[in-house]
Amino acid sequence: MPRSNIHGYAYILEFRTLDPWIAAIAATMPGPATASPDQEAAAYTRTVVAVDRSRVMPATVVIGAQWGDEGKGKITDVMAETADLVVRYQGGNNAGHTIVIGEERFALTLIPSGVLSPTVTPVIANGCVIDPVVLLDEMDTLAQRGVDPARVKISANAHLIMPYHKKLDAVMERFLGRQQIGTTKRGIGPAYMDKFSRHGIRVQDLFDPKIFRTKLETVLKDKNNLLTKVYNSLPMEAGPIAEQYLGLADRLYDHVADTSLLIWEALQRGEHVLFEGAQGTLLDIDHGTYPFVTSSSPTAGGVGPGAGVGPRAIDRVVGVAKAYISRVGSGPFPTELENEIGERMVEVGGEFGTVTGRRRRCGWLDGVALRYAVRVNGLSEIAFTKLDVLSDFENIKVATAYDSLGNRYTEFPRQQGVLYNCKPVYDELPGWEGDISAVRRFEDLPKEAQEYIRYVEDHAGVPITTVSVGPQRSATFNRSP
Ligand code: IMP
Repeated sequence: MPRSNIHGYAYILEFRTLDPWIAAIAATMPGPATASPDQEAAAYTRTVVAVDRSRVMPATVVIGAQWGDEGKGKITDVMAETADLVVRYQGGNNAGHTIVIGEERFALTLIPSGVLSPTVTPVIANGCVIDPVVLLDEMDTLAQRGVDPARVKISANAHLIMPYHKKLDAVMERFLGRQQIGTTKRGIGPAYMDKFSRHGIRVQDLFDPKIFRTKLETVLKDKNNLLTKVYNSLPMEAGPIAEQYLGLADRLYDHVADTSLLIWEALQRGEHVLFEGAQGTLLDIDHGTYPFVTSSSPTAGGVGPGAGVGPRAIDRVVGVAKAYISRVGSGPFPTELENEIGERMVEVGGEFGTVTGRRRRCGWLDGVALRYAVRVNGLSEIAFTKLDVLSDFENIKVATAYDSLGNRYTEFPRQQGVLYNCKPVYDELPGWEGDISAVRRFEDLPKEAQEYIRYVEDHAGVPITTVSVGPQRSATFNRSP
């Protein structure tokens, strides 16, 4: 029985008590406990005919539960083995995914991790911002390494990152001085600024040179005023930009699609769609540590506007969390360890950015922030990564609350100042000794590592269903708690 059929049947059984319309259909079906296999198959056939599948086919979202760099790329890549579509719905080439298959290391910034699975259609949806030069470079690199990028689809509605966005990203950061955000300087923020001020140029504009040039000339007047009069920089010329971008249009043409429709049709066919978030919950423009955030919505709710699907399409939200925590760039970080323990996490965990090579700041797992991620994303489960990095620590700590100015915060504080001046309240657990990177079953982990996992899921309130103990695709196992 194909995968999608199993989903369809299971959902009918679950919805029986919830939806009178489905209950009416389900009433004609034998219950799973009493039905013979033949009766189940017959009921299933009736169900497929009777039910509008868009009501019942679930999609999965994989998001970062921390400040990014949790290992989402690897988890998505593993999950992509059972997916038909893998969809990026926000961000751009500020995201770095490192995937290791055998001896090969793939560093992707824009193309969804699923591209490495030959049966997956990788989709860059409307909520993303696309630097076409980077996109084509990434496709060329994949092709050189034997991965066919022809399947990559990009939304006609996605906004383009233009050369002036990158320049503005750099000068705006410089202008902020000590208050700078520490962006990746890829033009992400300025591209989203233009999108929301309705001055953006979209992928579809590349295929109408007249419109493209008109929009570019209009917007560049404004940008040049900013560059020269505010940021004391040199102006840019429209001609060479138009030449370069319109010159890429032919190569992009076959990749452009109505990606919302593509996703809708896949869901209708009962295929499995995986939405891959970039960055992480605490970098979300609304729910993150503003202004030290990215300019889009990496949280699960971003999937709706970012990909053009309704909330009922999604039933599974996997939050990827490292066994400790890290962040790149500026901003508050209550559990940061500016000592030899943090240094060891950086060294053992290889905590240097995929995109910028910057050293990541590291610290103990922040349980307050993790519970916040469970809440704002509606996580159904957690994938717990880099557990191997914590081997050989005598003790392992998890922050359960923050103390600030005589108050104790067990929930993520609404006043951001608390994050700067608080002292984390830690629970301490015993560590374990020895390399665990070859372990492939929960039961084979040292008992202290098992305890740590149980502790974290108890604290978070959702199960840890996937554990990763090394960078390879194979160094991952599932568990049913
Ligand atoms: P931007 O997304 O380049 O505008 O950068 C805004 C903030 O998000 C900075 O602190 C970046 O370091 C951070 N950031 C952006 N993308 C990632 C990522 O993929 N991992 C971790 N941090 C990121």
